[in-house]
Amino acid sequence: MKATVPNIIEKKKRGEKITMLTAYDYSTALIIDRCGVDILLVGDSVGPIFSGYENTLPVTTEEILYHTKAVSRARKNALLVSDMPFLSYQTSFEDAVRNCGLMLKAGAEAVKLEGGQEIADLVRKLSHSGIPVMGHIGLTPQSIHSLGGYKVQGKTEDTRRKLIISAKSLEEAGVFSIVLECVPEDVAKEITENVNIPTIGIGAGRYCDGQVLVINDILGLFEGFRPKFVKKYVDLAPLIEGAVKNYVEDVKTGKFPEETHIFS
Ligand code: KIV
Repeated sequence: MKATVPNIIEKKKRGEKITMLTAYDYSTALIIDRCGVDILLVGDSVGPIFSGYENTLPVTTEEILYHTKAVSRARKNALLVSDMPFLSYQTSFEDAVRNCGLMLKAGAEAVKLEGGQEIADLVRKLSHSGIPVMGHIGLTPQSIHSLGGYKVQGKTEDTRRKLIISAKSLEEAGVFSIVLECVPEDVAKEITENVNIPTIGIGAGRYCDGQVLVINDILGLFEGFRPKFVKKYVDLAPLIEGAVKNYVEDVKTGKFPEETHIFS
């Protein structure tokens, strides 16, 4: 069954876990989509993962649009959510509605915005414009310089309370789900129990309504920093290295191409 915004919300009511993975290109999205993943996220992690940027800040609206179009050509069943990159929604309501609208025109079915209580009015505006919004609180990588690094958020009583208030105000403003990134498990549990929309955790423990990870991390394709919360399901990097080395060797020694590979 095709995943939709309403049936993602329904899953929480039925106590069914929600699965979400990032996707950036057509061929990989085709495979992920046929595995029963509920949500494909064209994350701004595309910056570090695909383009080799140091962080997500340089990612542009045009880049996310490009990857959204590629993934939307592959997507049949999953709900397609696109990240709104840094500066695509902070400058004005008008810019935000236009840029989020462009994502929907490119094939996304919802957008994800980083930020808590401070973006509640914008979320309300977008929801009223027919643009479904997924929230993202906790460690918000677009605020990396204000946060002072990739650190677990919500560890003090004050920051914990702010996260809970943010989750409630985002829900009230109309988000259909919230990503909780890098927060202590008990904080994620408290938020999950106090909102009626699904929470989707990344480094937020076992009690969220769903989980999200970066596809390259679970496949062992990204050899950069690997956070504690990542589970590697396969180690593809050495397999690819082996295959490429065999190809190089075969070409050099004349073992490839063989008769089966040629036209006569
Ligand atoms: O950009 C991204 O990939 C994300 C998820 C990891 C939540 O925002």
